Amino acid sequence: MHPMIMFSSINKWYGEYQALTNITAEVKRGEVVVLCGPSGSGKSTLIRTVNRLEDIQKGQILFDGQDVNGTDANLNRLRSRVGFVFQSFNLFPHLSVLDNIILTPTKVRGLKASAAKAQALQLLDRVGLAHKANAYPAQLSGGQQQRVAIARALAMEPPVMLFDEPTSALDPEMVGEVLSVMKGLAKEGMTMMCVTHEMNFAREVADTIWFMDAGQILEKTAPEQFFSQPSHPRAQRFIADLRAH
Ligand SMILES: Nc1ncnc2c1ncn2[C@@H]1O[C@H](COP(=O)(O)OP(=O)(O)OP(=O)(O)O)[C@@H](O)[C@H]1O
Ligand SMILES: [Mg+2]
Repeated sequence: MHPMIMFSSINKWYGEYQALTNITAEVKRGEVVVLCGPSGSGKSTLIRTVNRLEDIQKGQILFDGQDVNGTDANLNRLRSRVGFVFQSFNLFPHLSVLDNIILTPTKVRGLKASAAKAQALQLLDRVGLAHKANAYPAQLSGGQQQRVAIARALAMEPPVMLFDEPTSALDPEMVGEVLSVMKGLAKEGMTMMCVTHEMNFAREVADTIWFMDAGQILEKTAPEQFFSQPSHPRAQRFIADLRAH
């Protein structure tokens, strides 16, 4: 079976600046990849190429065998199949938690309101927020809002979830509840690409760490190996810096 996501020699420029250089990598079905690397190394850019929030200029990305940038690619269908959660939660403030979650499934997937509601309640239960279905985003903590954002992404039943520093904007005491939802997803076999600075999460949950620097993947390795004996000198320095903090 083909991998869930395949990057073949992809290159991306922002104007003159090359942000990604010859990225070749694959994410297998059910695999959890954690992207690590210094600020500006291209982690966000790389995961945003998967649902075409960023275009590439060279190379090819196959999502479930389909060329993401192909002329016949259907952008709406692609985006409905890639759940995306980032730092800011972006819930609609004027909609209840429940309505935030059912909005896209009813509008895009054409689900009946009753079916969408039932599904949303299940998802809320899964992220530990069944009791907040009728609350408004402003009445929730940051950690709760982020869990709603995850439930909202899951409502499209995407085969892949992308996370870009989902806990970076949270107060420390709320980080754990969001990571634990992500951990649960990983356990259930969700294919995931996560950018995170939570190294304990990376160590525990990742199948593979991709270490990036200056737009390249310098190392792809299992977490045990990455944290104990990274092979690239740049990765060794990164780990040493982490230890120092
Ligand atoms: N829209 C843009 N226009 C021009 N340059 C950009 C744009 N977005 C990102 N870049 C540049 O591309 C490089 C990679 O950025 P990217 O956001 O992917 O890094 P990152 O690894 O996610 O960093 P961080 O850990 O700080 O989030 C950086 O040098 C950044 O300044
Ligand atoms: Mg980033």
